[in-house]
Amino acid sequence: MKDDVIICRCEDISYGEIVEAIDSGLTTLDELKRVLRTGMGPCQGRTCSRLIARIITERVGGSVADMKSLLDRPPAMPVEIGILAGESDED
Ligand code: FES
Repeated sequence: MKDDVIICRCEDISYGEIVEAIDSGLTTLDELKRVLRTGMGPCQGRTCSRLIARIITERVGGSVADMKSLLDRPPAMPVEIGILAGESDED
């Protein structure tokens, strides 16, 4: 694959940047996420994480199935305190 091929299109991260990071010792999806921001775009890694997992396994071995996925975090959104207190819209 050419180095300039974009793998994470949300964060505009190329294959070459990912390979360089892996060769410098970053060998998990979370490590690459912290350094390159892969998986932090609007799709939250749904588009790129499997591709990146495959690149990692091609460079350092292992299998994609055994690779730990990106840390799942619940969506953050404001919630009115009344909803948490059990109030309904009619109150
Ligand atoms: S393509 Fe990587 S976060 Fe969306």
